Amino acid sequence: MFKTAIITVSDKGAAGLRKDESGPVIKEIIEKEAAEFCRVDKMLILPDEPEELKHVLVKMSDSDGMDLILTTGGTGLSPRDTTPEATMQIADRIVPGIAEYMRAKSMEITPNAMLSRGVAVVRKNTLIINLPGSPKAAKENLEAILPALRHGLEILTGQSNECGRDGA
Ligand code: MTE
Repeated sequence: MFKTAIITVSDKGAAGLRKDESGPVIKEIIEKEAAEFCRVDKMLILPDEPEELKHVLVKMSDSDGMDLILTTGGTGLSPRDTTPEATMQIADRIVPGIAEYMRAKSMEITPNAMLSRGVAVVRKNTLIINLPGSPKAAKENLEAILPALRHGLEILTGQSNECGRDGA
């Protein structure tokens, strides 16, 4: 089971001024559609403060042993939207195809999808994926990449090194 953390990045959410709907939506999708290989271990709400997010991402990947971290929010163009920058700053390697595919699939739904600057990266053995902030956008983006998630996590964590032999 891959240990999964969900981080909602939202000034209003962290201040208690807005109910976090996106974190629970992501949890529900993981529990319904990825239950065979992912288990949600941690859920957290943070403000749009890049240093705080960086600190938490490093701790969750280096010390807490999370295999997958899904962030939601802070990927757009407002001056406080800095989730992708914080994520890139603690990254070892980028996984461009994940973000490319999320945006491509999402643009079939809304042209506003091109406004999400979310990235997907690897830090050590942890895959970190930025999802946009609204519950609708988080759901649409996550569902787009679910089919490749298990195989990616298996390769990343050394549980598989066989690509293309079992249909994956
Ligand atoms: N992607 C999908 N699939 N569906 C959406 O409704 N909304 C977009 C985009 N990505 C959207 C989407 C909008 S309106 C914005 S502003 C950006 O995500 C960034 O969102 P964020 O700043 O909440 O992270």
